[in-house]
Amino acid sequence: MARALAIAERDEKPAIQEVPAQIPEAGQVRVAVEAASVNGIDAATAAGYLWDLMPHTFPVTLGRDFAGLVQAVGDGVTNVQVGDRVAGVITGMALGKGAIADSATVDAGTTAVIPEAVSSAQAAGLGLVGLTATALLDALKLTADDTVLVSGATGGVGAVAVQLAAATGAKVIGTARPGAAEFVRGLGAHEVVDYTADLGAAVQVVAPDGVTAVVHAAGDPATLAGVLQPGGRLASALGATPEQAGRDDVTVLTAMADATSEQLTKLLEATANGSLQVPVFRTYTFDEAHQAVTDFGNHKLGKLVIIIR
Ligand SMILES: NC(=O)c1ccc[n+]([C@@H]2O[C@H](COP(=O)([O-])OP(=O)(O)OC[C@H]3O[C@@H](n4cnc5c(N)ncnc54)[C@H](OP(=O)(O)O)[C@@H]3O)[C@@H](O)[C@H]2O)c1
Repeated sequence: MARALAIAERDEKPAIQEVPAQIPEAGQVRVAVEAASVNGIDAATAAGYLWDLMPHTFPVTLGRDFAGLVQAVGDGVTNVQVGDRVAGVITGMALGKGAIADSATVDAGTTAVIPEAVSSAQAAGLGLVGLTATALLDALKLTADDTVLVSGATGGVGAVAVQLAAATGAKVIGTARPGAAEFVRGLGAHEVVDYTADLGAAVQVVAPDGVTAVVHAAGDPATLAGVLQPGGRLASALGATPEQAGRDDVTVLTAMADATSEQLTKLLEATANGSLQVPVFRTYTFDEAHQAVTDFGNHKLGKLVIIIR
C-alpha cells in the first residue's frame, strides 16, 4: 500500500489514506516522492467541480507533478534508472493516479532527471506550470518587437510565463492585485497593472497603442482581448474561444502542457543555471497536504509545494 492525499468516493473530501501501491507497467516508473505541488486541477477535483467532467477512478489521488527517487522501472524504460532523482508530470484527462503520495507511478516519458543544483521542491513546483507556460509562449512566438500582457502573473503558470516572455526581449506587462507588484517585477516584468481595478485603463497607461500579445492564465477573455492591437494574438491556458474573446481581428490560440522528458529537461536546466526561478510561496508537510489544496486559491504568489519526505 501507499499513503496518499486521496478522495475515497464521490462527494467525499480528500484525506491522507492508504491506497493500493502500483507496479510500474512497461514504459512506466515508480517514484518515491519527495515533493509534489498543488495545481488548479487538484483544487477543482477536491471541490468536486470535476465529478461529471472527468472520469474518476477511486480512490482518486491528488497531485499532478512531483520530484523523487526512482524505485522501480517497467520494461523498456531507458531514459531514467533506479536511484535517479527525477521530476515528473502525470498527464491525461482521467483522475485516479496522483503525485501527492509517498509513491507515484508515471510514464517514464513524462519524467526527467533533476540537475543537482535544483531542489526537489523547486522541481516539483516547476512541472505542470512550466510546461504550460512553455506551451503558451510557443503559441505566441514572441519577438523583441512584442508587447505582451501576462494575465495571472502572480500564479504558477504566469510566474514562469513572465520569465520566458522577458527572455525573448519583448516588453512584458504583468497583472497583480495591490501589494503583489514587486513579486511580478522580480520575475522580469517591465510594468505591472492592477487587475482588480480597470485593467484596460491601466494597460493603456503603460502601452498606449495596446499590446501585441496576451498570455491568458487568468481573467476574462473579452477584457484581455480588449487590450490587444488589431492583428494581435491571445494564447489561453483556459481554453478561451474566439467567441469568448469577442473580436474577429485578433487570433485566439489554445495551449496545453506538452509533458515530455525533453521539455521538462529544458525547464530544469534553466532553473539549474539560474535563468528561471521557481517561486515557491509556501511548503507544507505531508500531513498538511489537504491544507495546501485548500490554500490554493488564497492569493498566494507562485507555487504551493508539499514535502512528502
Ligand atoms: N492548459 C493546460 O495545460 C493547463 C495546465 C495547468 C494549468 N492550467 C490552467 O491555467 C490557469 C493558471 O494556473 P495556475 O496554476 O497558474 O493557477 P494559479 O496559481 O491560481 O494562478 C492564477 C493567478 O491569477 C490571479 N488572478 C485571479 N484572477 C485574476 C484576474 N481576473 N486577472 C489576472 N489575474 C488573476 C491569481 O491571483 P490572486 O487571486 O492572488 O490575485 C493567481 O495568482 C488555471 O486556470 C489552470 O487551470 C492549464
